[in-house]
Amino acid sequence: MAVTSETSLDDVVVDLAVDLAGVRLPTPVMTASGCAAAGRELAPFLDVAAIGAVVTKSVMLDPRSGRATPRMVETPSGMLNSIGLQGPGIDSFLATDLPWLVSRGARAVVSIAGGSLGEYAELGRRVGASPGVAAVEVNISCPNVEDRGLVFACDPFQAGRAVSAVRRGVPRGVPVLAKLSPDVTDLVPVAEAVLEAGADGLTVINTTLGLAIDTDTLRPALGGTTGGLSGPAIRPLAVRCVWQVHQAMPDVPIIGVGGVRTGRDALEFLLAGASAVQVGTVVFHDPSAPHRVAEELRAELAARGFSSPADVVGLAHRPPAPGGAHG
Ligand code: DHB
Repeated sequence: MAVTSETSLDDVVVDLAVDLAGVRLPTPVMTASGCAAAGRELAPFLDVAAIGAVVTKSVMLDPRSGRATPRMVETPSGMLNSIGLQGPGIDSFLATDLPWLVSRGARAVVSIAGGSLGEYAELGRRVGASPGVAAVEVNISCPNVEDRGLVFACDPFQAGRAVSAVRRGVPRGVPVLAKLSPDVTDLVPVAEAVLEAGADGLTVINTTLGLAIDTDTLRPALGGTTGGLSGPAIRPLAVRCVWQVHQAMPDVPIIGVGGVRTGRDALEFLLAGASAVQVGTVVFHDPSAPHRVAEELRAELAARGFSSPADVVGLAHRPPAPGGAHG
């Protein structure tokens, strides 16, 4: 919407609803996988039906106890974690977690992680056959696996094979999102491979591999030695990745994730080319963040005269206006 002499910025009404790969979300702000289990622990702090979506902790086929402790450590402007995909397994998830989210009216984006192509295929079939799933997010980029060769997202061919295995089991109307790793030289060939394999959108990015050393114990601070780095420390890395992927494929839906703490941070991701964002690490100190960030984004959009998040997606890619003004 253009602001004319008859309207003032105060008059701008922002409708936060967005379309993401064919799914309508009431706001473009969802949770990031791994930061609020299956959403139930957020219920005292926000209405899970009113946020964009709840993205659940990546679930594997079997229950899993995860990696050695300690599993989390604070780092400058961020956090390292080495959980090791701890979780209840798909049977328990489908029997209790998913029905709870559906009963609350939340859009459930189910994150799945396989240890092999066969496991991805089986998870795709199980989740694809479950009613109430808004989308499937394929975690091909967990940094906390013993064998780095199992980080499917580090290789375009393997990334495509994992997504293709999932896609076959998920009905056409349920979008499949591929979650990419920043730990590659060039993200674009990986993005191309997963889209070719049937992904409907991309989640950009997962955590990046890091390591912190405890200078008192003289040992790695995490039981698993390395961990995934998240939080504001990685925001410029994530924004750069979203920028590069949007530049190469402007029509592909991207969910931006990495260090979003405020509505202004969310706006930055939309300007880079994301259609929606996920908030993760901030939820540990502000569990209301998925709601708060959306309301802050509303104010940021209104203050600039925009009536919809869709109006700003990729806007920073425009050439500068003549004379250098932001026209
Ligand atoms: C874990 C998985 C992830 O995808 C991630 O980014 C960080 C941690 C895990 O369960 O260890």
